[in-house]
Amino acid sequence: MARYDSMIYRRCGNSGLRLPLISLGLWHNFGDVDDPANARRMIRHAFDAGITHFDLANNYGPPPGSAESNFGRVLASDLKSHRDELVISSKAGYLMWEGPYGEWGSRKYLVASCDQSLRRMGLEYVDIFYSHRYDPETPLEETMGALDHIVRSGRALYVGISNYGPEETREAARILRELGTPCLIHQPNYSMFNRWIEDGLTEVLMDEGMGCIPFSPLAQGMLTDKYLNGIPDDSRAAKEHGFLRPEALTMERVDQIRSLHEIALSRGQTLAQMALQWVARIPAVTSVLIGASRVAHIDDALGILEAPPFSEAEMDRIHAVLIPERV
Ligand SMILES: NC(=O)c1ccc[n+]([C@@H]2O[C@H](COP(=O)([O-])OP(=O)(O)OC[C@H]3O[C@@H](n4cnc5c(N)ncnc54)[C@H](OP(=O)(O)O)[C@@H]3O)[C@@H](O)[C@H]2O)c1
Repeated sequence: MARYDSMIYRRCGNSGLRLPLISLGLWHNFGDVDDPANARRMIRHAFDAGITHFDLANNYGPPPGSAESNFGRVLASDLKSHRDELVISSKAGYLMWEGPYGEWGSRKYLVASCDQSLRRMGLEYVDIFYSHRYDPETPLEETMGALDHIVRSGRALYVGISNYGPEETREAARILRELGTPCLIHQPNYSMFNRWIEDGLTEVLMDEGMGCIPFSPLAQGMLTDKYLNGIPDDSRAAKEHGFLRPEALTMERVDQIRSLHEIALSRGQTLAQMALQWVARIPAVTSVLIGASRVAHIDDALGILEAPPFSEAEMDRIHAVLIPERV
């Protein structure tokens, strides 16, 4: 497979950086509890398909930090000579270590955590460093000042924010612009089952010239054919450390999934492909940030590169199923 032949690369907001339409996240399935050979296979397979962007965070595992260490191992053994072809991101915001400096948005935490991530991955710099969540108790000037410092000190090339609301995003963008380190990108939760960004955030991102990389576009696997007939033993919902809980799969939810599955079949694609294509349809979106537990999931996602666009009638059918999501 020629690495760069079929992938689509979209410009990230007003920046000079282009990201692949599909990016791979290492939240689940890359920790010490997971099979390292499978993790390595997925990373290599993704890169060979033109997926140049790998998304991590300090706390990915379990245990926290292990996804970065494991990714660092694959980088060192297999991808060392490709460093300049890769966009690697990490984040800090959630609990990493004990005491008052191990989470949230202080300069103390962000800079220390960034150094720890670099050490775990064996990197001199990350391409994008994020504030993983808004901290209501730390002045935004301090959190954004820390991001600016992280870039100026050579630890990261670009900065982003994740899980920030529309007003917080506008303010963060203003502070970073004034500091001279523009905010490259926002990473929000967005899928057919979680449409909060349509109520103001996408408008702010377009106004500010920021990119957008929605995470959990498959609602952690619910927007696939996986849960049509119960909860498989090897699924995220069945795993003790999986973030998706079986309670999320209510009868109403499964009915909705079945209806969407029917629409996808009528379009000649899988439900996963339809769900990813639906997220990628809005102009604010730069890349969709998928997760995978096996190589076949990556191949399934790659199917959107050749998928037919949605007709108006298909969009109407999809949105009729999703209507309750907006209430
Ligand atoms: N910024 C944040 O706060 C934040 C939060 C969450 C995630 N993220 C980022 O977003 C990335 C993606 O999140 P996510 O893993 O929740 O994304 P997702 O794409 O919604 O879900 C991925 C999961 O769905 C299942 N799956 C994927 N393709 C499938 C297919 N074709 N058929 C059947 N099942 C399929 C697999 O679960 P099974 O294990 O069940 O096979 C896979 O691990 C993370 O790795 C992380 O980088 C960021």
